[in-house]
Parts: sequence; structure tokens; C-alpha cells
Amino acid sequence: MGAKLSACYRGNKEIEEPTSAKQANSTNENNNEKNNNKESSSQELVNASPTKSSPAAPAPKSIKVLVVFYSTYGHNYGMAMKVAEGASQVPGVQVDLRRVRETLPESVLSKMGALEAQKAFTHVPIADPSEFAQYDAVIVGAPTRFGLPAAQIQNYMDELGQIWAKNEAVGKIASCWTSTATQHGGQESTILAMHRPFMHLGMIVVGLPYTCTDQFGVDEVRGGTPYGTSTITGGDGSRMPSEAELRMAVFQGKHVATIAQKLV
Ligand SMILES: Cc1cc2nc3c(=O)[nH]c(=O)nc-3n(C[C@H](O)[C@H](O)[C@H](O)COP(=O)(O)O)c2cc1C
Repeated sequence: MGAKLSACYRGNKEIEEPTSAKQANSTNENNNEKNNNKESSSQELVNASPTKSSPAAPAPKSIKVLVVFYSTYGHNYGMAMKVAEGASQVPGVQVDLRRVRETLPESVLSKMGALEAQKAFTHVPIADPSEFAQYDAVIVGAPTRFGLPAAQIQNYMDELGQIWAKNEAVGKIASCWTSTATQHGGQESTILAMHRPFMHLGMIVVGLPYTCTDQFGVDEVRGGTPYGTSTITGGDGSRMPSEAELRMAVFQGKHVATIAQKLV
């Protein structure tokens, strides 16, 4: 158990949290491509009518994306950072990373061997449900527990009653990811269960489209579903998110932010 946990802890230290500087510097291949295309078509316009200058491109719309996770052993913290990184690659998008409140007593966490692993993300602020409505999109991740999302994330959703009562999340974007120990341990059932409260809140649920081609790979053990990305931890938790799973997490973050920006 101890070896397993230190493996989780070490593994997640290797996944870097995006800093605002990195967010500012991060590249967006698609946007660059789009911008390049825009540049070339603007250029053609200028060449076609030399007396007119091309209009300045509108500034990207400012939107806010919330990435919320629960993690016992660190896998979902690693995935959350990559989801946040993907969202922050879209110009004009501000991303806030939050964890949900732990509901298990320390004595239980100690028996689960989680205390050391959780130290890696105690610096992440705890999500305040009253701030939920500030965001244009919310992306939520949690480990699977018996085919369902961990109770800690359910507890957070239960705290959104006021948001529901005031219709404050209607028309906003929600998206989810998960992790399981085993390949067929309930990834889809967990993500679909997480979608349901968001539908009650009136939100538009976004998954992971197959344009994220990492989903097609069968060359290695990998998570990733059209409902949302995922990672597989192995029975002892020693498997950390693979490169393909991390790419899918980045894709999902960017995909959600792009859609949210279009809807604002
Ligand atoms: C009470 C409990 C129930 C679990 N149920 C499942 C399950 O149904 N399917 C599965 O594959 N893994 C299950 N797991 C393993 C967790 O999903 C795994 O530890 C988690 O994905 C690791 O993510 P984390 O490092 O972010 O905590 C369970 C773990 C616990 C403690």
C-alpha cells in the first residue's frame, strides 16, 4: 500500500500545474492554424482590392472556465491539471482549478493510505459552490466508486441547490471525466451519472468527440470515452495517466472552452 501511494504521489509531481505565465505562453495549434488561415484569406482580400485594408480581427471573448476535481490518490489531480491546461490554450479564457472538500475523516484516509498522496494538491483552493454561476463552463472529474462518482463530488453537486433554485446555470456548459482501477470498472457509468445533475441544472453537456483521435487507439491500455476522458490506475493504483490519456484531457479542456466561447 505504501509503495503504491508514493508511486501515485511521485507520478503526479511530474504533471505540471499550468501557471498563468504558461497559460499566456501556451500554444494553440488549432487556433494558430485558424489564425494562419485567416491571415492568408485576409491577405487575398487585400490583394484583390488594394484600396481597402482588412478589418482588424475581433478580440477573443473573455470567458471563465472552472475545473473541479476530487482525488484520493492523485490521478484525478493530474488529469485536472491537463484539462485546465487545454482550456487555457484558448485565447480569452480564464481557468480556475479547484478541488472539492474531503468528506472522509483523517483516520479513514490514513487507513486508505491517501494522506501522503493528497499532500500534492492541498494547495489547490476548495471549490465554493456559491461561485459556480460565475463560470461559463464547468469541467468536473472524480474517481469511480462502485460504478458511480466518488461521494465527495456528489456532495459538491448537492451543494448546488441554490444555483438550481435561481436557474443560474441554465444554458452553461458542463463536462466530466473519471478514473477507474480496472479497464471495465465503470468509466462510462460514472461519467453518465455525473451528467445527470448538470442536466437538472439546465446545463449543456459536452463530451469528448471522436475528432479526439486518441480514443481510437487499441495498441495499449488506455482510457478515453466519447462521454469524457478517463484514466486507468491499475488495481494497486501504480499506473499513472498515460501520454494518450493526458492528451485527451487537454483536448477535452480545449474543446469545452471553445464551445463555451461560441455560446457566450
Ligand atoms: C470504495 C472504492 C470503490 C471503488 N470502486 C471502483 C469501481 O467500481 N471500479 C473501478 O475500476 N475502480 C474502483 N475503485 C478504484 C478507484 O476508482 C481508484 O482508486 C481511483 O480511480 C483513483 O483515482 P485518484 O487517484 O484520483 O483517487 C474504487 C476505490 C474505492 C476506494
